[in-house]
Amino acid sequence: MEISVDKNDLVLVPLGIQDIDEGHQRIYDALVDAYDCCLSLNRDSLFDNFLADVVYQMTLHFAYEEKMMQGHDYEGLQEHHQEHALILSNALELCSVIDGKGVLDAELVRFLLNSFLHHIQFIHGQMYRHISRVNS
Ligand SMILES: [Fe+2]
Ligand SMILES: [Fe+2]
Repeated sequence: MEISVDKNDLVLVPLGIQDIDEGHQRIYDALVDAYDCCLSLNRDSLFDNFLADVVYQMTLHFAYEEKMMQGHDYEGLQEHHQEHALILSNALELCSVIDGKGVLDAELVRFLLNSFLHHIQFIHGQMYRHISRVNS
């Protein structure tokens, strides 16, 4: 049986800035891979995936995005940064479960994926409107 995240309720919506959308896609793919690894109990792969991919991609993307917001004098930067910090700390917490040889529940990975998608759909809209206004 093939195991995968149900894409119907976890949709990644492109927002129109290529660099940002590509960063989202890399994080999304890494999270879906991690979820599949978790379900298949492939612990070594899961460990590598989280440390090398999810956290790395999040760190790169969040820093890039925050620099862009700063460059556009976005007033919601602090609030947006706090959301990034929370998502990243949740990802690191999952890493520490794996690192400590604990068993990682696939639902925790799914929760992280959901909070990442929620961030994109509901927090990014405001930022995009601001950046579009500044750039027009
Ligand atoms: Fe983002
Ligand atoms: Fe963001």
